[in-house]
Amino acid sequence: MNETATLRARAEIDLAALRANVRTLRARASGAQLMAVVKSDAYGHGAVPCARAALEAGATWLGTATPQEALALRAAGIGGRVMCWLWTPGGPWREAVEADIDVSVSGMWALDEVVAAATAAGVPARIQLKADTGLGRSGCQPADWPELVSAARAAEDAGTLRITGLWSHFACADEPGHPSIAAQLHVFRDMVAYAEKEGVTPEVRHIANSPATLTLPESHFDLVRTGIAMYGISPSPELGTPADFGLRPVMTLAASVALVKRVPPGHGISYGHHYTTTAETTLALIPLGYADGIPRHASGRGPVLVGGAVRRIAGRVAMDQFVVDLGGAPLAAGAEAVLFGPGDRGEPSAEDWAVAADTIAYEIVTRIGTRVPRVHVHEDSGRD
Ligand SMILES: Cc1ncc(COP(=O)(O)O)c(C=O)c1O
Repeated sequence: MNETATLRARAEIDLAALRANVRTLRARASGAQLMAVVKSDAYGHGAVPCARAALEAGATWLGTATPQEALALRAAGIGGRVMCWLWTPGGPWREAVEADIDVSVSGMWALDEVVAAATAAGVPARIQLKADTGLGRSGCQPADWPELVSAARAAEDAGTLRITGLWSHFACADEPGHPSIAAQLHVFRDMVAYAEKEGVTPEVRHIANSPATLTLPESHFDLVRTGIAMYGISPSPELGTPADFGLRPVMTLAASVALVKRVPPGHGISYGHHYTTTAETTLALIPLGYADGIPRHASGRGPVLVGGAVRRIAGRVAMDQFVVDLGGAPLAAGAEAVLFGPGDRGEPSAEDWAVAADTIAYEIVTRIGTRVPRVHVHEDSGRD
């Protein structure tokens, strides 16, 4: 028996699949560089091993939301270009500058803080100016762009920083034909042209996330930033399945059945008794719950491959466990229950869980808790 088979539960992370996905995405990226987005612990897949695997497969940038995530990559010995974009006042600007991290700047307060940090460190900062081209989230509004560009250019001329990128983010790239896509591209081109006219010479201009990488070649510019597709999940079921894009799901979530027992008809199951057995039957106890990231909202609906068939959760998901009604199927404690994976054995997908929990597959993989060990397999790229 292999060592991981004895675990209560595990998220197996297939790094060969991740590397293959990176290569597939690069081939679709019109010659642009690829940033592997490894924020939020690589969407729950483990930031450091996934970052390494993505770099091996040809990614040239890593992207994180918070500076702490970016610094953690450096602390793990990961070199190359790393960019982070979610800053708050008083953040670790100096540490980021000293760790050679490209930092995003959306407004004047951030520019002031990065200039102060670079001056104190005696090292020029690398900044990327973020434009709000219509997402309405972070980024500099078009009306405020001239002031930000002018101040950043002045700091660049003074040698305090280098403007390495101009970038933005889509609101509706997963809805091909949505009018905001063309509108955002138009605004992005205008804002880039303005900055370049003012003397900015960016290494990279970028706006494309996974759906744009897969469906919008005109959005690829110099760099695409892929997250979900790299983990083998389609950005949206309406766009296609992972297989339609040549992608393979990277995470398999499985557990060891904790208990199998016979119960009589009319037996209530789990908190609130929202499920009652209709006949004498066999129950399997699956030792994963909402504390592990199994959505309580998927109570009564979440699919699991166990005992040779895909079955639905019986009753409520509890903090640490849920129950499946096996009907007449024989099973022993210790048998494997697969919640989702690439589908080779007929197991459900993360997308199936998203449907069951009325959410998106991004949330399903990202929310798997720290109590579930990540088991990275196929780390050796020599066999690809
Ligand atoms: C700024 C930014 N770029 C790129 C991505 C990657 O998006 P996706 O996972 O759709 O590829 C994200 C994730 O939400 C993001 O916040």
